[in-house]
Amino acid sequence: MNYHDTLSYLMDAFGGADSLQKLLGVGPSALSNYRRREHLPLNQARKLSNIAPKFGFNLDPYTLKISVIDDDRKPEILLIITGGIAAYKALELIRRLRDFEFSVTAVMTASAQQFITPLSVSALTGNKVYSELFDLTDEQEMGHIQLARKADLVLIAPATANFIGKMAHGLADDLASTLCLVTEAPIFVAPSMNPHMWTNTATQDNCAKLKRRNISFIGPDNGDTACGETGSGRFAETGFIISQIQQKLLQKHSSADIFPSEKQTKPLDGIKILITAGPTLEPIDPVRFIGNRSSGKQGYAIAYACAEQGADVCLISGPVSLEAPLNVRLIKVETAQQMKQACADELDVECVICAAAVADWQVKQTANAKLKKSNNKPPEIVLTETPDILSWIGHHPSRPKLVIGFAAETDSLKKNADDKRARKNADWILANSVLQSGESVFNSDINEVLFLSKTGAEYWDTDSKQAIARKLVHRISDYFSDVHVSGVQKKENI
Ligand code: CTP
Repeated sequence: MNYHDTLSYLMDAFGGADSLQKLLGVGPSALSNYRRREHLPLNQARKLSNIAPKFGFNLDPYTLKISVIDDDRKPEILLIITGGIAAYKALELIRRLRDFEFSVTAVMTASAQQFITPLSVSALTGNKVYSELFDLTDEQEMGHIQLARKADLVLIAPATANFIGKMAHGLADDLASTLCLVTEAPIFVAPSMNPHMWTNTATQDNCAKLKRRNISFIGPDNGDTACGETGSGRFAETGFIISQIQQKLLQKHSSADIFPSEKQTKPLDGIKILITAGPTLEPIDPVRFIGNRSSGKQGYAIAYACAEQGADVCLISGPVSLEAPLNVRLIKVETAQQMKQACADELDVECVICAAAVADWQVKQTANAKLKKSNNKPPEIVLTETPDILSWIGHHPSRPKLVIGFAAETDSLKKNADDKRARKNADWILANSVLQSGESVFNSDINEVLFLSKTGAEYWDTDSKQAIARKLVHRISDYFSDVHVSGVQKKENI
């Protein structure tokens, strides 16, 4: 191939003349000069060589020869397991990472080995587990530098307060902490600890330091922790950890950061959305509960669709058998009280969507021991109302801008749903007749919706729950684009 052809070939490979000019930072005349002189300066060739993998190939800057990247290479995760009670969750995390076609090499701290064995970790990763800094055999086979260098991403999960402290202070007294200093790969930290340890100023200062060094945090979540206390400190959900890693690795290989000034924007970028989904289960005794048939499918579909459009989504879900959607922070709860508390902790958002089928009643006095049949007559169970979360948010002094609820009705759909919207001070209600077409909407994959706002109603044809979710997200995007344009909440003309 002559030089003229090579430049044309490069133009095609890098997305055309315009794209090549932008990558090189030159105008059209410079490109014609390179062509005329049959010479691409080495500094320019190097620029292209650096960016070539993002276009899916390698480029030799000296010969300008293109070679194919080995697409079968699985992204390499270096997983550092530190010694917290959530260490056992690393096993499930490894299993899921392998399901997602990541190659995992694990490093365990000495205290992690008090919780889980290197043997079980190695069985799941399919690789040797490393732990000792001064293991001479390994130093010959694979030095710690190489171990850090071959990683596409370093994930510390679970990360204890102690390990975070060591990282913040640049300590390197074991293999795990040394690797954190050596690596050039992005580092993700998934903390897990007692809520008091997490909120302690020392820990928070350490985390702030690490964030300033571009180290990313996944979690922790709010909720019950293994040490029996409730608060922030729970190890993040496995699905959420994986979605964050995938997003980072995709970003690394996508064209979005090739032209940083042309980052694609999405309609809900920067909008924080809180969603409730699924049923709540109200305990009667340690083994029995009051529940309902909600599958969570509609709420999860909405969470997925919001995140897809760039929103920062927190999904508070009752017990369902669904995976956390990609890029959604999932908080699992059981009871209405826990769901309300989780909403209270996460209420600093622009939009709330209450899609949960919250139980209407809870047992006034939950039995501590299993109720026995022996007394010859069934026990009397006294019920009280659960907190109405939608209504509480709708009337909250820090009410988010846009509050959306659902209404499940068996009769007088429009009237009942309209009354519900006004009573709970919601902006919009998606009403559905629970017995549409003679079958329950709860477990179904389809839905039929009457969309109500303060000023009107609109019937949405029967469609999949995903399609209904996308339609709603469209509305929400319109709403926020109007709010941003006018600076006031005005979108009401449906
Ligand atoms: N909701 C809530 N908290 C409750 C009950 C309901 O947040 N304790 C929310 C639901 O998530 C939904 C809306 O309120 O967005 C309407 O729920 P629905 O079950 O239709 O109505 P209820 O308030 O339970 O009233 P009723 O059962 O009398 O129809």
